[in-house]
Amino acid sequence: MKTNLFIVILLIGFISCNTNQKNTPYAKAENTNEALGQNTQLNEKGYLLMKQKCYICHFEKPEPSKKDQMIAPPMLRIQEHYKPTYPNKAEFVDAVVAIVKNPSLEKTLMPGAVKKFNLMPKLIYDEAELHLIAETMYDYDFGSAPKMNMQMNGSALTLNNGEKWVLKKESIEQINAVVKKINDYDSSDIADYNQLGKDIFNDAKAIMLEDDYTGELFDQIHNFFFGIENNMHTLMSTTSTNEAETQLEELKTKFKEFHNYFK
Ligand code: HEC
Repeated sequence: MKTNLFIVILLIGFISCNTNQKNTPYAKAENTNEALGQNTQLNEKGYLLMKQKCYICHFEKPEPSKKDQMIAPPMLRIQEHYKPTYPNKAEFVDAVVAIVKNPSLEKTLMPGAVKKFNLMPKLIYDEAELHLIAETMYDYDFGSAPKMNMQMNGSALTLNNGEKWVLKKESIEQINAVVKKINDYDSSDIADYNQLGKDIFNDAKAIMLEDDYTGELFDQIHNFFFGIENNMHTLMSTTSTNEAETQLEELKTKFKEFHNYFK
């Protein structure tokens, strides 16, 4: 992180010139805002602040050609991780403000990014500005970008020279508990489905953040959870029980695979 920060400082000049040239007009959120005029103005200010304060480290979107320069997850990915957990704007803003003020393993929603880049450094921002940035992060249409595994080396699970990867006993127990939770699930209440999605995510997070899992072993664990990320996100945020059932079935299938690769 120290060397990263050093590079960041070197890059600040470069990036701030660079972002001026990027024309990323704040246009798309207009349609979705009720109080058009005022919100758009606030969002424009928020966008500008986000560019100044956050794009020093964060790209707006994944840029595969610059993956070596990546020192933090792209904003698009942050939005993708925060919105399913906090579909409500006020809660989203509170969560973003809270983690920026005090980054922690307890609060992270991006364990893969924490493993790869280390925790975001604690930086001091003006409270009102940070709020505005967080609102912009909720409203802004970052577009989309194809999902790519962070390792970007193809994400198929592989065995360890023909053998299963060996995990700690606690992790296996945790996975078994998740599988049981999924198989025993018996409710048609959408709030319960959403909660199940969050519970699965929290277990996934605990395993991913284990210090002992590094190198190729971590990459394979990450591959597995990356493969169920969309399912977890959809399950925790969907308002349709049909959709939730579909996700649950997919999760059941995918978790069966787990034991083919890990023991
Ligand atoms: C010095 C570099 C740096 C700057 C500046 C920076 N970030 Fe980050 N940020 C990171 C890194 C590294 C991560 C990935 C590790 C993590 O998630 O903690 C991250 C992750 C995040 C996350 C996800 C946290 C999680 O783990 O769930 C949010 C939200 C975030 N940044 C918001 C912001 C906002 C808003 C700003 C501007 C006000 C900002 N960041 C500026 C480095 C930075």
